[in-house]
Amino acid sequence: MNRSIVPLLCSFLLLSAFSASAFNVTKILSQYPDYSNFNDLLSKTGLASDINSRSTITLLAIPNGAIGDLTSKSDDVVKRILSTHVVLDYYDPMKLKSMKDKTAKLTTMFQQSGKASNDQGFLNVTAKDNTFVFGSAVKGAQLNSRLEKSVMNQPYNISILGISQPIVTPGLDGTLAPVSAPPPKANAPSSPKSSPPAESPDDEAESPDDEAESPAPSEEDTKAPAPSKDADSPSADSPPADAQSPSSSSAGKLKISFGLFVVMASMVAAY
Ligand SMILES: *[C@@H]1O[C@H](CO)[C@@H](O)[C@H](O)[C@H]1NC(C)=O
Ligand SMILES: *[C@@H]1O[C@H](CO)[C@@H](O)[C@H](O)[C@H]1NC(C)=O
Ligand SMILES: *[C@@H]1O[C@H](CO)[C@@H](O)[C@H](O)[C@H]1NC(C)=O
Repeated sequence: MNRSIVPLLCSFLLLSAFSASAFNVTKILSQYPDYSNFNDLLSKTGLASDINSRSTITLLAIPNGAIGDLTSKSDDVVKRILSTHVVLDYYDPMKLKSMKDKTAKLTTMFQQSGKASNDQGFLNVTAKDNTFVFGSAVKGAQLNSRLEKSVMNQPYNISILGISQPIVTPGLDGTLAPVSAPPPKANAPSSPKSSPPAESPDDEAESPDDEAESPAPSEEDTKAPAPSKDADSPSADSPPADAQSPSSSSAGKLKISFGLFVVMASMVAAY
């Protein structure tokens, strides 16, 4: 009996860890008619299930009135654009207000697609005019998507923030040619010998660049238990559970089936 109860317990742990989605973003957004176009696009591009497979998410939702020509772009382009509106961490207005220096660099779902170059997978959020503004972290991008309201939140799993207009990430919009080689760092010394440890604060802000150049996480999807790359995302306070969360819904399903299999196998062993 003892011999078989251990795998049984293990498999229940496995199951409870991976089977339950923390939320259904389609269902949540369906309660807010102002965001129905945005909601439709999330489903159409398959992003909704990617979002549901995570347990810690902030969605920057575009209201119908600002959706513009997003509805007429190809699914592939829309998916790229909207995945830059999905932040892989939990931010509600309270947490935004408590940001050190009133600014932060946020990792988005586009960073995990393996298609991001430079800072395309990151956003910059900065306090401005009694609210916050979001924009692409790519150098020179506009910071002009204003936080308009908190649509809903369920701490610390999902927060939906309404923004004034879509975030425009340079090089993402179908016109292809994602920004190629990273431009030389503006403050790079011209002589090779001088790169002392005493760097300007700019370098600190740029440190997540290294992540951008790390191998695409998508290659790891085939190995189920591989922790997702955002484990080392810049923010320190996301629940650790997220580091282990399935990075795609298919990986999640794989784990569920595996969990079920283990449960059944251990039940057989028990009898
Ligand atoms: C948040 O997500 C975790 C992990 O999926 C889950 O265990 C927890 O119940 C969720 N919390 C809420 C309030 O849904
Ligand atoms: C999420 O909610 C939508 C709308 O209520 C529903 O059609 C869909 O089946 C749900 N998805 C899951 C995975 O439960
Ligand atoms: C975000 O952009 C603003 C304006 O360009 C800049 O001052 C700030 O340092 C940036 N924040 C981060 C975390 O990079």
